[in-house]
Amino acid sequence: MLNKLMGKEKPAEEDDLNEIKPEEENIPKHIAVIMDGNGRWAKKRGLPRVAGHREGMNAIRRMVRLADRTGVEVLTLYAFSTENWKRPKTEVEFLMRLPERFLNAELPELIEKNVRVRVTGEIETLPEYTQRAVKKAAEETSGNTGMILNFALNYGSRSEIIESVKTIYKKVESGEVAFTEIDEGLLSKHLMTAELRDPDLLIRTSGEIRLSNFMLWQLAYAEFWFTDVLWPDFDEKDFNEAVRVYQQRQRRYGGV
Ligand code: FPP
Repeated sequence: MLNKLMGKEKPAEEDDLNEIKPEEENIPKHIAVIMDGNGRWAKKRGLPRVAGHREGMNAIRRMVRLADRTGVEVLTLYAFSTENWKRPKTEVEFLMRLPERFLNAELPELIEKNVRVRVTGEIETLPEYTQRAVKKAAEETSGNTGMILNFALNYGSRSEIIESVKTIYKKVESGEVAFTEIDEGLLSKHLMTAELRDPDLLIRTSGEIRLSNFMLWQLAYAEFWFTDVLWPDFDEKDFNEAVRVYQQRQRRYGGV
Protein backbone atom coordinates (compact mmCIF):
# COMPACT_ATOMS: atom_id res chain seq x y z
CA MET A 1 0.00 0.00 0.00
CA LEU A 2 2.67 2.45 1.05
CA ASN A 3 4.76 1.77 -2.03
CA LYS A 4 1.84 2.85 -4.19
CA LEU A 5 1.31 5.91 -2.08
CA MET A 6 4.92 6.92 -2.39
CA GLY A 7 5.03 6.38 -6.15
CA LYS A 8 6.92 3.73 -8.02
CA GLU A 9 10.39 4.52 -6.85
CA LYS A 10 12.34 1.51 -7.91
CA PRO A 11 16.07 1.33 -7.79
CA ALA A 12 17.79 1.44 -11.20
CA GLU A 13 19.46 -1.88 -10.63
CA GLU A 14 17.45 -5.02 -11.28
CA ASP A 15 19.09 -6.69 -8.35
CA ASP A 16 17.98 -4.96 -5.13
CA LEU A 17 20.42 -7.09 -3.25
CA ASN A 18 23.59 -5.84 -4.88
CA GLU A 19 25.92 -4.49 -2.29
CA ILE A 20 26.53 -0.76 -2.10
CA LYS A 21 30.24 0.01 -2.28
CA PRO A 22 31.74 2.93 -0.36
CA GLU A 23 33.46 4.21 -3.52
CA GLU A 24 30.11 4.71 -5.27
CA GLU A 25 28.72 8.17 -5.96
CA ASN A 26 26.11 9.73 -3.69
CA ILE A 27 26.36 7.59 -0.61
CA PRO A 28 24.30 9.36 2.10
CA LYS A 29 26.84 10.61 4.61
CA HIS A 30 24.35 10.84 7.47
CA ILE A 31 21.45 8.39 7.70
CA ALA A 32 18.82 8.91 10.39
CA VAL A 33 16.36 6.14 11.18
CA ILE A 34 13.00 6.10 12.96
CA MET A 35 12.90 2.45 13.94
CA ASP A 36 9.20 1.75 14.09
CA GLY A 37 7.06 -1.38 14.21
CA ASN A 38 8.64 -3.46 16.97
CA GLY A 39 5.31 -3.85 18.79
CA ARG A 40 3.45 -4.94 15.64
CA TRP A 41 6.24 -7.36 14.76
CA ALA A 42 5.75 -9.05 18.14
CA LYS A 43 1.96 -8.96 17.99
CA LYS A 44 1.95 -10.70 14.60
CA ARG A 45 3.79 -13.57 16.27
CA GLY A 46 1.68 -13.64 19.42
CA LEU A 47 4.65 -12.42 21.46
CA PRO A 48 4.87 -9.67 24.09
CA ARG A 49 5.85 -6.23 22.75
CA VAL A 50 9.25 -6.41 24.38
CA ALA A 51 10.13 -9.37 22.15
CA GLY A 52 9.81 -6.93 19.26
CA HIS A 53 12.23 -4.53 20.92
CA ARG A 54 14.69 -7.37 21.52
CA GLU A 55 14.53 -8.27 17.84
CA GLY A 56 14.78 -4.55 17.04
CA MET A 57 18.13 -4.59 18.81
CA ASN A 58 19.34 -7.30 16.45
CA ALA A 59 18.20 -5.15 13.53
CA ILE A 60 20.34 -2.34 14.98
CA ARG A 61 23.37 -4.61 14.98
CA ARG A 62 22.68 -5.43 11.31
CA MET A 63 22.16 -1.78 10.40
CA VAL A 64 25.36 -0.64 12.10
CA ARG A 65 27.39 -3.22 10.20
CA LEU A 66 25.77 -2.30 6.88
CA ALA A 67 26.16 1.44 7.35
CA ASP A 68 29.78 1.06 8.43
CA ARG A 69 30.59 -1.18 5.47
CA THR A 70 28.97 1.29 3.09
CA GLY A 71 31.03 4.24 4.23
CA VAL A 72 28.22 6.11 5.99
CA GLU A 73 29.77 8.76 8.25
CA VAL A 74 26.96 9.19 10.76
CA LEU A 75 24.15 6.80 11.66
CA THR A 76 21.50 8.24 13.96
CA LEU A 77 18.99 5.83 15.46
CA TYR A 78 15.85 7.09 17.23
CA ALA A 79 15.83 4.68 20.16
CA PHE A 80 13.59 6.50 22.66
CA SER A 81 11.59 9.69 22.35
CA THR A 82 10.59 12.06 25.15
CA GLU A 83 7.02 10.88 24.46
CA ASN A 84 7.88 7.19 24.95
CA TRP A 85 7.68 7.57 28.76
CA LYS A 86 3.89 7.26 28.31
CA ARG A 87 4.30 3.53 27.59
CA PRO A 88 3.64 0.87 30.24
CA LYS A 89 6.27 0.91 32.99
CA THR A 90 7.53 -2.60 32.21
CA GLU A 91 8.06 -1.71 28.55
CA VAL A 92 9.91 1.49 29.44
CA GLU A 93 12.12 -0.45 31.84
CA PHE A 94 12.88 -3.02 29.17
CA LEU A 95 13.76 -0.30 26.65
CA MET A 96 16.00 1.42 29.18
CA ARG A 97 17.98 -1.81 29.64
CA LEU A 98 18.61 -2.24 25.93
CA PRO A 99 21.47 0.25 25.49
CA GLU A 100 23.34 -1.57 28.27
CA ARG A 101 22.63 -4.98 26.74
CA PHE A 102 23.52 -3.82 23.25
CA LEU A 103 26.70 -2.03 24.23
CA ASN A 104 27.92 -4.80 26.53
CA ALA A 105 27.72 -7.19 23.61
CA GLU A 106 28.78 -4.87 20.79
CA LEU A 107 31.36 -2.52 22.22
CA PRO A 108 34.37 -4.69 21.33
CA GLU A 109 33.25 -4.90 17.70
CA LEU A 110 32.44 -1.17 17.59
CA ILE A 111 35.93 -0.39 18.91
CA GLU A 112 37.48 -2.77 16.42
CA LYS A 113 35.57 -1.03 13.62
CA ASN A 114 36.75 2.40 14.83
CA VAL A 115 33.11 3.47 15.44
CA ARG A 116 32.44 6.39 17.78
CA VAL A 117 29.33 6.11 19.95
CA ARG A 118 27.50 9.25 21.03
CA VAL A 119 24.09 10.20 22.31
CA THR A 120 21.65 12.94 21.38
CA GLY A 121 19.03 13.54 24.05
CA GLU A 122 18.33 14.44 27.64
CA ILE A 123 20.38 11.71 29.20
CA GLU A 124 20.41 13.18 32.73
CA THR A 125 16.86 11.93 33.32
CA LEU A 126 17.56 8.37 32.20
CA PRO A 127 18.05 5.60 34.78
CA GLU A 128 21.53 5.46 36.19
CA TYR A 129 22.36 2.14 34.49
CA THR A 130 21.38 3.50 31.07
CA GLN A 131 23.48 6.61 31.55
CA ARG A 132 26.42 4.55 32.74
CA ALA A 133 26.28 2.29 29.66
CA VAL A 134 26.11 5.08 27.10
CA LYS A 135 28.69 7.25 28.86
CA LYS A 136 31.11 4.32 29.06
CA ALA A 137 30.66 3.57 25.36
CA ALA A 138 31.06 7.24 24.44
CA GLU A 139 34.22 7.53 26.53
CA GLU A 140 35.79 4.34 25.29
CA THR A 141 35.19 5.27 21.67
CA SER A 142 35.81 9.01 21.95
CA GLY A 143 39.11 8.80 20.07
CA ASN A 144 37.68 6.72 17.23
CA THR A 145 37.65 8.33 13.83
CA GLY A 146 35.32 6.05 11.87
CA MET A 147 31.54 6.07 11.64
CA ILE A 148 29.64 7.94 14.34
CA LEU A 149 26.87 5.86 15.86
CA ASN A 150 24.50 8.40 17.35
CA PHE A 151 21.69 7.13 19.58
CA ALA A 152 18.78 9.54 19.94
CA LEU A 153 17.76 8.65 23.46
CA ASN A 154 15.13 10.55 25.40
CA TYR A 155 15.14 12.93 22.50
CA GLY A 156 12.48 15.45 21.43
CA SER A 157 13.15 17.98 18.73
CA ARG A 158 10.88 20.81 19.81
CA SER A 159 12.31 20.89 23.31
CA GLU A 160 15.83 20.76 21.84
CA ILE A 161 15.06 23.84 19.72
CA ILE A 162 13.52 25.68 22.67
CA GLU A 163 16.58 24.96 24.83
CA SER A 164 18.88 26.28 22.14
CA VAL A 165 16.77 29.45 21.75
CA LYS A 166 16.98 29.99 25.53
CA THR A 167 20.76 29.59 25.49
CA ILE A 168 21.10 32.02 22.60
CA TYR A 169 18.80 34.49 24.39
CA LYS A 170 21.02 34.38 27.48
CA LYS A 171 24.12 34.93 25.35
CA VAL A 172 22.53 37.94 23.68
CA GLU A 173 21.50 39.29 27.08
CA SER A 174 25.04 38.97 28.42
CA GLY A 175 26.53 40.51 25.30
CA GLU A 176 28.38 37.33 24.28
CA VAL A 177 26.37 37.17 21.04
CA ALA A 178 24.99 40.11 19.07
CA PHE A 179 21.33 40.02 18.05
CA THR A 180 22.42 40.40 14.41
CA GLU A 181 24.56 37.27 14.69
CA ILE A 182 21.52 35.03 15.13
CA ASP A 183 21.23 32.95 12.01
CA GLU A 184 20.72 29.31 10.95
CA GLY A 185 24.34 28.44 11.60
CA LEU A 186 24.21 29.83 15.13
CA LEU A 187 21.05 27.97 15.99
CA SER A 188 22.47 24.74 14.55
CA LYS A 189 25.54 25.17 16.75
CA HIS A 190 23.32 25.29 19.83
CA LEU A 191 21.47 22.06 19.09
CA MET A 192 22.49 18.74 20.64
CA THR A 193 23.72 17.73 17.20
CA ALA A 194 26.04 20.76 16.87
CA GLU A 195 29.04 18.67 15.88
CA LEU A 196 27.17 16.53 13.35
CA ARG A 197 26.32 17.27 9.75
CA ASP A 198 22.59 17.26 8.97
CA PRO A 199 21.07 13.93 7.87
CA ASP A 200 20.98 13.33 4.13
CA LEU A 201 18.53 10.46 4.30
CA LEU A 202 15.72 9.72 6.75
CA ILE A 203 14.37 6.19 6.88
CA ARG A 204 11.15 5.35 8.73
CA THR A 205 9.90 1.80 8.90
CA SER A 206 6.48 0.25 9.51
CA GLY A 207 4.36 2.32 7.12
CA GLU A 208 3.97 5.40 9.32
CA ILE A 209 4.59 8.61 7.41
CA ARG A 210 5.41 11.22 10.02
CA LEU A 211 8.37 12.73 11.82
CA SER A 212 7.20 12.25 15.43
CA ASN A 213 9.20 15.20 16.78
CA PHE A 214 12.47 13.85 15.35
CA MET A 215 15.23 16.22 14.21
CA LEU A 216 12.76 18.75 12.80
CA TRP A 217 15.44 21.36 12.21
CA GLN A 218 18.18 19.00 11.05
CA LEU A 219 15.96 17.20 8.51
CA ALA A 220 15.02 20.40 6.62
CA TYR A 221 16.72 19.24 3.41
CA ALA A 222 16.95 15.49 3.95
CA GLU A 223 15.49 12.97 1.53
CA PHE A 224 12.79 10.81 3.11
CA TRP A 225 12.30 7.12 2.47
CA PHE A 226 9.42 5.20 4.00
CA THR A 227 8.82 1.48 3.97
CA ASP A 228 6.11 -0.86 5.21
CA VAL A 229 8.79 -3.22 6.56
CA LEU A 230 8.69 -3.49 10.36
CA TRP A 231 11.96 -2.50 12.03
CA PRO A 232 12.91 -5.99 13.32
CA ASP A 233 12.63 -7.26 9.72
CA PHE A 234 14.70 -4.45 8.21
CA ASP A 235 17.59 -6.12 6.42
CA GLU A 236 20.30 -5.64 3.84
CA LYS A 237 17.84 -5.67 0.94
CA ASP A 238 15.86 -2.82 2.51
CA PHE A 239 19.00 -0.86 3.33
CA ASN A 240 20.27 -1.22 -0.21
CA GLU A 241 16.92 -0.16 -1.63
CA ALA A 242 16.83 2.96 0.53
CA VAL A 243 20.36 3.94 -0.50
CA ARG A 244 19.72 3.17 -4.19
CA VAL A 245 16.60 5.35 -4.17
CA TYR A 246 18.56 8.11 -2.43
CA GLN A 247 21.31 7.89 -5.04
CA GLN A 248 18.76 8.66 -7.76
CA ARG A 249 17.11 11.59 -6.06
CA GLN A 250 18.14 15.06 -7.16
CA ARG A 251 18.76 17.33 -4.23
CA ARG A 252 18.14 20.92 -5.22
CA TYR A 253 17.99 22.65 -1.84
CA GLY A 254 15.32 24.98 -3.14
CA GLY A 255 17.21 25.72 -6.39
CA VAL A 256 16.40 24.42 -9.85
C1 FPP B 1 9.05 1.80 17.92
O1 FPP B 1 8.30 0.64 17.76
C2 FPP B 1 10.28 1.50 18.60
C3 FPP B 1 10.70 2.07 19.76
C4 FPP B 1 9.94 3.11 20.46
C5 FPP B 1 11.93 1.66 20.40
C6 FPP B 1 13.05 1.43 19.48
C7 FPP B 1 14.09 0.69 20.18
C8 FPP B 1 14.82 -0.28 19.63
C9 FPP B 1 14.71 -0.68 18.21
C10 FPP B 1 15.82 -0.96 20.43
C11 FPP B 1 16.73 0.02 21.12
C12 FPP B 1 18.02 -0.57 21.35
C13 FPP B 1 19.13 0.12 21.67
C14 FPP B 1 20.39 -0.59 21.68
C15 FPP B 1 19.12 1.53 22.03
P1 FPP B 1 6.90 0.53 18.50
O2 FPP B 1 7.12 -0.13 19.79
O3 FPP B 1 6.27 1.88 18.55
O4 FPP B 1 6.14 -0.41 17.50
P2 FPP B 1 4.58 -0.37 17.17
O5 FPP B 1 4.31 0.97 16.53
O6 FPP B 1 4.44 -1.50 16.22
O7 FPP B 1 3.85 -0.58 18.45
